[in-house]
Amino acid sequence: GKGEYDHFMLKEINEQPTSLAQAIEGRVDSATERIALSDFEPDTFEDVDSVQFVACGTSYHAALYGSLTLNQAGVQSTALLANEYSVSAPPIDDDTLVIAVTQSGETADTLTALRRADAEGARTLTVTNVVGSTAAREADDALFIRAGPEIGVAATKTFSSQAVMLTLLGQRIAGDLQGEPPADLKSLLPELESMPGRLDDLLASSAAESIAEQYSDSQSYFFIGRGLGFPVALEGALKFKEITYEHAEGFASGELKHGPLALVTPETPVFAIFTGQEDEKTLKNAEEAQTRGAPVIAVCPDGHPAVKAADEHLSIPETEPNLAGLLANVQLQLVSYYAADLLDRPIDKPRNLAKSVTVE
Ligand code: M6R
Repeated sequence: GKGEYDHFMLKEINEQPTSLAQAIEGRVDSATERIALSDFEPDTFEDVDSVQFVACGTSYHAALYGSLTLNQAGVQSTALLANEYSVSAPPIDDDTLVIAVTQSGETADTLTALRRADAEGARTLTVTNVVGSTAAREADDALFIRAGPEIGVAATKTFSSQAVMLTLLGQRIAGDLQGEPPADLKSLLPELESMPGRLDDLLASSAAESIAEQYSDSQSYFFIGRGLGFPVALEGALKFKEITYEHAEGFASGELKHGPLALVTPETPVFAIFTGQEDEKTLKNAEEAQTRGAPVIAVCPDGHPAVKAADEHLSIPETEPNLAGLLANVQLQLVSYYAADLLDRPIDKPRNLAKSVTVE
């Protein structure tokens, strides 16, 4: 049941400290600086020469997150929409690893892409929440995110767990491939172990409800981010439109000036996500929107230069770039939730949508 919460979505947002702790349990060891993904044999990824992620919706945003972390670790990788894969898959050979990211393990588009990859000789892996799902049965390997059942149609805790597991898996793939652990693993692991506590702090002190109240009668909502903040911007906008029925779009910060800026007015709040990757550029992009009258809500740590420049602030604990976006995403989940609640939307079951999309 929903327990003390009015909606499953809010319950599931608040479960994230626990679901993340479950995801990483026994899988990281900061004392020995190792990723103990015992799901896989030692050096199992040493022959992988490129990685293709396939996924849809929120899982695609997690896949993009994972793909960017792999690129940053020096591994060639791309994230593709599963429903585009059959007409536009990049070349595959038997050293290509295709990773299907799917919470349910039953999404038709994603299963079709997985089967195509398999037929063309790729090695396949799925990152999923459901043991015994079709994706888990059909892929060569499965990595379970252990988020527990998610009832709300809007994916929340599963996104965080997917992104964290993909970050870990990426470090493991890069390590196997390069013959030594990636340089930033040492700082990542203790930060990862601190995530549940940081999420507890964020959830206990979020200003999301008052921000939702302040801006809930705007015309459109924009989300911008750079680097790992980009998939979070896309996800922030998807969640917002899905449950509030209001228009929302996510952009790479640097793209704003290449077109979307034409839409910016005092009626279009801009949520700017700062993950510590060229933040000064993102701040400049946000200020360009502000100059056109848009209220800017900075999602960043206290004391960050964006706090002063922005109209509002959603605080995230300090951490490293690989994880900051996940904290920002939780603030955005809360904004969407409270905005939808104010508008009296059926939060757990938005119109026209299904939890698991089993048709192409
Ligand atoms: O079960 P999957 O992760 O494969 O589902 C893919 C999408 O349908 C899903 O992520 C959808 O976008 C979310 N429920 C939106 O919140």
